[in-house]
Amino acid sequence: MSINSKTQELKQKMKVALQGGGSKAIEKQKSTGKLTARERILELLDEGSFHEYDLFIQHAGKDFDMDKKFLPGDGVVTGTGTMNGYPVCIYAQDFTVAGGSLGYMHAKKICKIMDHAMMLKTPIIGINDSGGARIQEGVNALAGYGDIFYRNTMASGVIPQISVILGPCAGGAVYSPALTDFVFVVDKISKMFITGPDVIKTVLGEEISQEDLGGARVHAEISGNAHFFAESEYECFEQIKDLFTYIPWNNTKKAEPYESKKPKSREYKIKDIFPTDPAKPYDVRHIIRSIVDDSAFLEVQELFAPNIVVGFARIDGQTVGFVANQPIALAGVLDCNSSDKAARFIRFCDSFNIPLVTLEDLPGYLPGIDQEHAGVIRHGAKILYAYSEATVPKITVILRKAYGGGYIAMCSSHLKADFVFAWPTAEIAVMGPEGAANIVFKAEISASDDPVKTRQDKILEYRQKFANPYVAASYGYVDSVIEPNETRSYICHALEVSKNKVATNPYKKHGIPPF
Ligand code: HXC
Repeated sequence: MSINSKTQELKQKMKVALQGGGSKAIEKQKSTGKLTARERILELLDEGSFHEYDLFIQHAGKDFDMDKKFLPGDGVVTGTGTMNGYPVCIYAQDFTVAGGSLGYMHAKKICKIMDHAMMLKTPIIGINDSGGARIQEGVNALAGYGDIFYRNTMASGVIPQISVILGPCAGGAVYSPALTDFVFVVDKISKMFITGPDVIKTVLGEEISQEDLGGARVHAEISGNAHFFAESEYECFEQIKDLFTYIPWNNTKKAEPYESKKPKSREYKIKDIFPTDPAKPYDVRHIIRSIVDDSAFLEVQELFAPNIVVGFARIDGQTVGFVANQPIALAGVLDCNSSDKAARFIRFCDSFNIPLVTLEDLPGYLPGIDQEHAGVIRHGAKILYAYSEATVPKITVILRKAYGGGYIAMCSSHLKADFVFAWPTAEIAVMGPEGAANIVFKAEISASDDPVKTRQDKILEYRQKFANPYVAASYGYVDSVIEPNETRSYICHALEVSKNKVATNPYKKHGIPPF
């Protein structure tokens, strides 16, 4: 056979394999508003950069007539390419081939590209669209999931791991995304649950639709399993590309620097955003935008636990991770969900050399029976643990309230913040003046002829004595009391001088965080 005819033979084999599940299955996939696995990869990666591997892998199923079935690529597309010019490893499950179900060889392909990513120190992106463990392959399918989960765990904190849920992701399959750093979901397309509506109805007698059980909104707003929510696959791909401009390619690198840009100061003026009345709420995201380059802020888990805001921005061209209490949601309190959200984000930033900027304005941890019984002690401890352990540059700005446990938890100097700045509006105290006056001056207030006036006087006295930044500054717990308009320049300087920060924690195999 000549080289030409051999090449023709290759082309023919490729053509068959690239058809995936065939035109009917592709039509069905499209009719549900979904792209195919290869279309998704091509949309996401830089044009012409994708190289596919293991196209000719065949499944290993023998039972239930599986040996008579041809499953092109065994239902998953794997390869390498570039995004924004930088290398990535990627896989996309192909629902048109046996519902993207995961058999032994399908899992081997995924593990192989994950091993590649670890060896080459590139991020790994997994696009999930699958009916779960391939039922005909029994324990070999389960083994495949176990092999993936192990690799997800080993890769955690070494390379960024991104999961994109673009179809069903059911049963044990959900645990690979759960072990990765960022989960992207798309409205009406993503479905994630450990057991579907049919099983729930049989076992518990409860009726619910797939969408209400594990649709995109559920995971973005209620469960917190998803970090980014999009209206369409295309919007989701833009979100992923945007995220990749902020994060480094592995844990030995820093994020790529960009050209420094000034904030859009006409749109985001601190004096217009920040209320003079300390009881009034404001949107802390506007404060972030007033500080950062080009006022650009990529919020993570925007719809979940909105009482804390986390996300990426750049200051003087360098990526930073923001953690900020949000006064417009539950007055910015820390509760179980917001503690989990912040702790996880802090750990991502620390693993990937991203300095942390904390903006503080909170009345403390949320009291109440629900929170206590939900484990606010354990969940709240996560944020303490994450900040204490983080060795990246840590810069805190106290904008207004810093009361009680909240003061300590939001990256205080006691948790080894490198710089703590406070606005003159800061109130750093064990609790708010109203609550404090009721307790400390209880006897005086009740013995007074005019208890209302006495209470107001005592609140004022307490506020003047403690609810300010100067007592904390007098002990050195605050490094500088700054004018709000100076915030960006103080942060810029702090980042500049902490560029070469090297901090190590005591040797240990690993700590035992309050998981
Ligand atoms: C084998 C599967 C499959 C599976 C789907 N298919 N899921 N084949 N194993 N798990 C096949 C179907 O037989 C069908 O093949 C094709 O994929 C398309 O499936 P449809 O059912 O026609 O598609 P649709 O109507 O869109 O429904 C999608 C679905 C449904 C909701 C995902 O297929 C479904 O419920 N699948 C089973 C989900 C599940 O229970 N998985 C196991 C979870 S247990 P043909 O040949 O007809 O085209 C698990 C344990 C892992 O994952 C534990 C690890 C720790």
